[in-house]
Amino acid sequence: MASVLITGGAGFIGSHTCVVLLEAGHELVVLDDFSNSSPVALERAQLLGGGSIRCVRGDIRDPACLNAIFANAQAADTPIEAVIHFAGLKAVGESVAEPLRYWDVNLCGSRTLVAAMDAHHCRTLVFSSTSTIYGEPTRFPLVETMAPAPIHPYAQSKWAVEQLLNALAATGSWRIANLRYFNPVGAHPSGQIGEDPLGIPNNLFPFITQIAAGRLESLRVFGNDYPTHDGTGIRDYLHVMDLAEAHAHALDHLLSAAPETALTLNLGTGQGLSVLDVVHGFEQATGISILYSICARRPGDVPRLECSPQLAEQTLGWTAKRSLADMCRDGWAWQSANPHGYRR
Ligand code: WQD
Repeated sequence: MASVLITGGAGFIGSHTCVVLLEAGHELVVLDDFSNSSPVALERAQLLGGGSIRCVRGDIRDPACLNAIFANAQAADTPIEAVIHFAGLKAVGESVAEPLRYWDVNLCGSRTLVAAMDAHHCRTLVFSSTSTIYGEPTRFPLVETMAPAPIHPYAQSKWAVEQLLNALAATGSWRIANLRYFNPVGAHPSGQIGEDPLGIPNNLFPFITQIAAGRLESLRVFGNDYPTHDGTGIRDYLHVMDLAEAHAHALDHLLSAAPETALTLNLGTGQGLSVLDVVHGFEQATGISILYSICARRPGDVPRLECSPQLAEQTLGWTAKRSLADMCRDGWAWQSANPHGYRR
């Protein structure tokens, strides 16, 4: 059991990870600015995980806020032993429109965080990276040794942070895990916490659940002329609870690893699914029909992203266990119980 700082812990992946870490008995401090998340998620995560979370509202770019978190934990005799760093901006289109903001929050925020960690001798970090780092790949499955080729400021900022963290690990005193997420979907099976995007969702899965909830009319399928089995884009969707469990495994692994550890791991199922596979899987799992029409391709979309999760399995003993039916059932349990997300 360790005392762990979770930045961005109230967000979609962060809140599910909090539940898993509380169940494992860890002590949690969450730092979140709630710019795209709700404190209600943390209240519910505490109930589900059976523990209490110390919550700090603040910005990862604020050194005084970060230093106070580490200093207070030390003064209370529960020094922070590791950090899981979720906080950041994550919308690809927005990053193209506002590159400065993305570099500032994602790169400068991470730099400020690791500087505060270093000053307080906490040098164990799990970082939220992204499958979009691979750019527009043509060979599959994606393995971690392939050279990153990020094509937008969002992915470029994540790749820059990975490089910073790898350089820290190379100094011999840091333990780092760069976790490259594919497409996390679904929700905690209780339906108490889940994904709560602001405004009309950009992403496929919350768009589908909001159609099912009657908030949206019809799905626009962006392109059916890709070189895939049904012409629609393929992604490697994984259940957010599987992803949350991967963080617990990565944390345990780092806490018993030697300094100068730097892991970079793909987290996905390894089974790509097309847009129509997801639509039909949702219909089968829930019995609800999803109206859709075929539209033009969305600019910036790649035909296919699909990983090999083998290295994560070998290194952490982790694999994604939950099926598309589980993702759909649990995502729908959340959306149907919370049609307006955390806004009640
Ligand atoms: C999936 C598929 C679309 C919406 C996301 C995040 C990005 C990154 C990786 C973290 C594609 C199609 C979608 C719709 C559709 N996350 N689609 N109609 O593009 O893989 O990116 O994961 O690093 O930040 O945005 O996911 O869910 O947007 O799209 O047809 O209304 O669904 O074209 O093929 P994507 P997505």
